[in-house]
Amino acid sequence: MCGIVGALAERNVTAILLEGLKRLEYRGYDSAGLAVVNKDQQLQRRRAQGKVAEVEKRLEAEPMKGHLGVAHTRWATHGVPSEANAHPHLSSDELALVHNGIIENYLELKSRLTKAGYRFTSDTDTEVVAHLVHQLYQEKQDLTVAVEAAIQQLEGAYALAVIHQDQPQKLVCARKGSPLVIGVGMGEYFCASDPLALLQVTDRFIYLEEGDLATLTLDQHAILDRQGQAVEREICQWQHGNQAAEKGSYKHFMLKEIHEQPAVLAATLEGRLSDRRVLPQALGAKAMELLPRVKQVQIVACGTSYHAGMVARYWIEKLAGIPCQVEVASEYRYREVVVAENALFVTLSQSGETADTLAALRFAKEAGYLASLTICNVPGSSLVRESDMSLMTQAGPEIGVASTKAFTTQLTALLLLTLALRRAAQASNQDADDPLEAELVEALRALPRLAEETLQLDAEIEKLSEDFAEKHHALFLGRGSHFPIALEGALKLKEISYIHAEAYPAGELKHGPLALVDKEMPVIAVAPRDDLVDKLKSNLQEVRARGGELFVFADPVTLLEPEEGMQVLHLPEVHEVLAPILYTLPLQLLSYHVAVLKGTDVDQPRNLAKSVTVE
Ligand code: G6P
Repeated sequence: MCGIVGALAERNVTAILLEGLKRLEYRGYDSAGLAVVNKDQQLQRRRAQGKVAEVEKRLEAEPMKGHLGVAHTRWATHGVPSEANAHPHLSSDELALVHNGIIENYLELKSRLTKAGYRFTSDTDTEVVAHLVHQLYQEKQDLTVAVEAAIQQLEGAYALAVIHQDQPQKLVCARKGSPLVIGVGMGEYFCASDPLALLQVTDRFIYLEEGDLATLTLDQHAILDRQGQAVEREICQWQHGNQAAEKGSYKHFMLKEIHEQPAVLAATLEGRLSDRRVLPQALGAKAMELLPRVKQVQIVACGTSYHAGMVARYWIEKLAGIPCQVEVASEYRYREVVVAENALFVTLSQSGETADTLAALRFAKEAGYLASLTICNVPGSSLVRESDMSLMTQAGPEIGVASTKAFTTQLTALLLLTLALRRAAQASNQDADDPLEAELVEALRALPRLAEETLQLDAEIEKLSEDFAEKHHALFLGRGSHFPIALEGALKLKEISYIHAEAYPAGELKHGPLALVDKEMPVIAVAPRDDLVDKLKSNLQEVRARGGELFVFADPVTLLEPEEGMQVLHLPEVHEVLAPILYTLPLQLLSYHVAVLKGTDVDQPRNLAKSVTVE
């Protein structure tokens, strides 16, 4: 959370920094600011509470120019969202610093620096780092050396970018626990929390590794690793185009991303299926060797990604016959876990930078797992780099804070993993034909088309959403592998429309939530064709008998039809194993339309951020 941009060029960088902030706004949007060193070698700063547009207005009123600068969009951790707490933080009006992460020993450092005469003007942990670097700069007279000495004293997580007006040719940045990339231009350099921020100026990136410190000058970069040794890091070419970061004709990124699903599901499957099976190479050479040894699977993730893991548990136990556990990362990482022999540790993450998930992986690496695998959407992210194996979802950049296409591509990748585990666990001859696998491969191929058909329900769902705009609560029901889909539907609705929503396995209704049901409580159910649908129908009757208003997304073969107190929308017929992927789509559209009716900020809901790189 929080987005950082830095730039050093021969041209004025203010507009580059501002555009970078706009592209990073998904990471945090409660305040923003920029600082540049102007032609008189003086530091200037503009900050504002609220979104980047506010600081843009400030800049229009009071323009500033410079060829070296840093900028930041904030998601508050220490101190309320306010101009005083907005970054960049200055020290003695000479040095400016932006930070993403949390400095855990900031109080101790603050008291020391206060005694040394530094005056604090914010409640942030970041300001201590600015003063600390400044103090060390006084002594060392070199910004790189000062930052290097300062980070030795920091406990916690950080991505930092620092400038000093006395060194107008130097941008120093460092990372530990929070992401940072360097953008390589022609005679200019940039840094940012995410390459997306810099696609306007470059498509060549260096992904800094944990503990790296980089010094950028106009024509070269120098990187020191965590041991202080000079290292070379690869320059990677961005392969994903620039369009993904634009809304195009869509009103919101979320709507665009919902509608991209047919294409990105197809991209996630591309090159990974043969006629009747998942290609053995789909998961990489290491997986081919390791998967036959897997006797248990532990999945760890956060938020929407966690829901994808919950679906996968049903698949892995049913189709591969391997025990599977799923846990949210923030719990898992602090628990004393018992690791079974030959257990595979799997993380799921859109960003690959979620602090809790990353910490869980690091913990797991010490805990005796057979190997680690990440299913992730961002190449070069920390999870991808630190896992033994990775399976990339091909969702492309996801900007809307509420995750949509990342979730359905995660599910698709998880089904590929399930089938690879099934083959590894069950077939003594790895080339044997497996009719069920062949059936599922065929169903997977049809998935993008079915997703397209499902999205055609958009207008009907928009109409349905009118019944929700005045409601304060909603209940989502599902059974089996659709219980996590109900959870995901409820999460989407609360994230973007601020309607309190809960999800239950429909069989639990009678053990409590039924007490809440009356005509003010819309109940949304997903009813695909599966073994549990008759039981679900009985649960729906329990709701109707209490006057509850039902909204059901159903397979036509369930024979669920609209009647008084029950609206039904039919989805295309789909293989029951793949149904969780398809049934997610109408729930995404429903939340979207309810949020639009309520007039909330769909892409940047209050208090949330897309990439949670703090604990
Ligand atoms: C945040 C986002 C969610 C996301 C979760 C996990 O809470 O708002 O949309 O599901 O982080 O993120 P990850 O990048 O690890 O999937």
